[in-house]
Amino acid sequence: MRTRVAIVGAGPAGLTLGHLLTLAGIDNVVLESRTREHVETRVRAGVLEEGTTNLLRSTGVGERMDREGLVHHGVELRFDETAHRIAMSDLTGHSIMVYGQQEVVKDLIAARLQSGAPLHFEAECASLEDVTSERPRVVFTQDGRAHELECEFVAGCDGFHGVCRSAIPAAALRVYERAYPFGWLGILAAVAPSTEELIYARHPRGFALHSLRSPEISRLYVQCSPDDDLAHWPDTRIWDELHVRLAAKGWTLHEGPIIEKGITSMRSFVAEPMRYGRLLLAGDAAHIVPPTGAKGLNLAIADVALLAPALVDWFHAGTSTGLDMYSDTALRRVWRAQDFSNYMTALLHRHDDEFENMRQLSRLQYVANSPAAARSLAENYVGLQLPGF
Ligand code: APR
Ligand code: PHB
Repeated sequence: MRTRVAIVGAGPAGLTLGHLLTLAGIDNVVLESRTREHVETRVRAGVLEEGTTNLLRSTGVGERMDREGLVHHGVELRFDETAHRIAMSDLTGHSIMVYGQQEVVKDLIAARLQSGAPLHFEAECASLEDVTSERPRVVFTQDGRAHELECEFVAGCDGFHGVCRSAIPAAALRVYERAYPFGWLGILAAVAPSTEELIYARHPRGFALHSLRSPEISRLYVQCSPDDDLAHWPDTRIWDELHVRLAAKGWTLHEGPIIEKGITSMRSFVAEPMRYGRLLLAGDAAHIVPPTGAKGLNLAIADVALLAPALVDWFHAGTSTGLDMYSDTALRRVWRAQDFSNYMTALLHRHDDEFENMRQLSRLQYVANSPAAARSLAENYVGLQLPGF
């Protein structure tokens, strides 16, 4: 098997890169270890920045998103049982779209299958060979047999637990990492959202988030410990905590059947550089952010929005400037998102340290009362549109 760009992983990063390359007429093959059903039903985040929606829309995969996605012009910070609205659109001129990551993935897979470009499920990459040569190879298994895919570039879009990053020798890779002493227990509930806008709540019992997926489906989270066990969280306990943590005067949380639940731990991670020879990392394979800033999916799309034109310039014009600059350019946005996600995480989670909890309250009061502080939060939340990012 041969192609020009071998893409490992059919998450948002790999599928979007494949989509952009196919539109530009550059042969590429996507290899995904899981089944189509698995990647299409995996519940993940759901906040899209305008940069993300513009890219999907302008490349022909935004039709269902524009029909079913919900445009939000503000978010709410809730503390001391009081709502404080951050008027994102008024403060920045930009909005966000609430549309589940797995819906984006479904739309990209449908476009891929329609284009006829190769996408192999249950094809697991085992290793990369010769990534510093002009003919790297991806070794993968499918139907119990070993295969090789020869290519000119490998795009490592295989997420945090993928294998591509490990093809970079330790001496050439710098890793920055932080684990947080927090976890999120997330649920999908078959009940109309009790709010029109997302609510980020700070409470002495811990953080809670009320998000949504559609007029019939609510998405909610409670802070738990990172090594917590779902067995400790029967549905009644989840709702009890949500009622207490989200409480506000004159507001009611509506309960419904829980149709999905899971626990995620929170970490910050950056691998640098994002390019090694003919290997290009994108998305979670290169960086992880805690979900409080809603940046993970947007960073994955921002990476490939740089990478695709860089590869097009290489193949069509023979220039390597874009590829040479890829890592540095992408990492500027990644670090901005790291700082913002860290800020939001510290702003809202219950800390073990009472000094931190008091400092946090003061920060929240400041954001709620200072238009300058609110604008800073809002411009990061909607996605920085500044030169260099
Ligand atoms: N071979 C082939 N595919 C693999 C391998 C492998 N060895 N290892 C992992 N994969 C696949 C995974 O099954 C997954 O479908 O790579 C894909 C990576 O997709 P994501 O984890 O969704 O990562 P990415 O595309 O970078 O998107 C980042 O996902 O985790 C969220 O919050 C994150 O929203 C962000 C987004
Ligand atoms: C979600 O809807 O799943 C969601 C929203 C905002 C976040 C994280 C997750 O910060």
